[in-house]
Amino acid sequence: MSRPRVLSGIQPTADSFHIGNYLGALRQWVALQETHDTFYCVVDLHAITLPQEPAELRARTRVAAAQLFAAGLDPDSSTVFVQSHVPEHPALEWVLACITGFGEASRMIQFKDKSAKGGADAASVGLFTYPILQAADILLYDADQVPVGEDQRQHLELTRDLAQRFNYRFGPTFVVPGPYILPGVAKIGDLQDPTIKMSKSASSPQGIIDILEDPDSIRRKIMRAVTDTDGEVRADEAAKPGVTNLLRIYAALAGEPVPSLERQYAGAGYGKLKKDLAEVVVDAFGPIRERTEKLLANESELDRLLAAGAEKAHRIAAATMARVRDRMGFLPPA
Ligand code: AMP
Ligand code: TRP
Repeated sequence: MSRPRVLSGIQPTADSFHIGNYLGALRQWVALQETHDTFYCVVDLHAITLPQEPAELRARTRVAAAQLFAAGLDPDSSTVFVQSHVPEHPALEWVLACITGFGEASRMIQFKDKSAKGGADAASVGLFTYPILQAADILLYDADQVPVGEDQRQHLELTRDLAQRFNYRFGPTFVVPGPYILPGVAKIGDLQDPTIKMSKSASSPQGIIDILEDPDSIRRKIMRAVTDTDGEVRADEAAKPGVTNLLRIYAALAGEPVPSLERQYAGAGYGKLKKDLAEVVVDAFGPIRERTEKLLANESELDRLLAAGAEKAHRIAAATMARVRDRMGFLPPA
């Protein structure tokens, strides 16, 4: 019995992943290794849809990969690779772009959001075709499921539409991936403005906790997290978003349900909750930070792991692309 295949990707656009990435993506990816055939991709080609410094991109790609391994991805069970190492990604993207409607691509909300930030001229054509490249990432590997957050739902729908359209026009070629929005992963809020999600682009440094952050800085940020004035440790998304967010992080990392934390901290005040939460976070991230540093200290070993991942990914991607070329009617090279 073969396991269902999973593929997901994450951009190497920060010096560290944050606690939202960890709880919303990385930790789920690690868990899926037990039950699925897992492929995880550091999507550097997606990263350059916004301007990147070359030296920084190179460093961040290694940091991203190191954190994935450090968080628990096992190179023996997961295929972890860098997107640009597999040339079939942009090759399939081109083919898919040619069956994507201009209007269809224009409806992608993430493009509208991101391009609105920099103005129409600042937005590149690459940013516009971003979701088509994402579809290529998924379809190259015959992925059955794609674990992503709610904000990626529209891109998954596009992927399914393109797979079905291609299959209809050119004959069965792609697996149509089922939607797989991660269950039970609530959005982690910004510590300074808990009504928005913690995000590299929208949050201030004070609002974000990074996996690779030093323990004292983590403690400081949690102690200064915005709460409210009624002093009651109780989850209430609408009335008490700050405390609710802290409880949610605590529950996820400690593996204790929110109601049991509410009981435990009844009458204790926010100071005690924050102090304990800070230690929970420091304890959770300490080992990941140490493993990441160790991997980064041995670049050649890290690069070797990524080369092995790319080789395995490439074998599958090349077979899919050969199928696509044949279906499209491209003359094989003599
Ligand atoms: P991003 O860097 O925003 O593209 O996010 C990378 C991954 O982390 C995606 O799978 C997101 O769904 C997840 N993620 C990002 N921010 C959060 C957050 N604040 N809460 C939960 N998940 C998040
Ligand atoms: N767009 C995704 C995000 O912002 C990242 C991504 C790129 C991805 N390619 C993918 C996710 C393929 C799942 C599958 O989070």
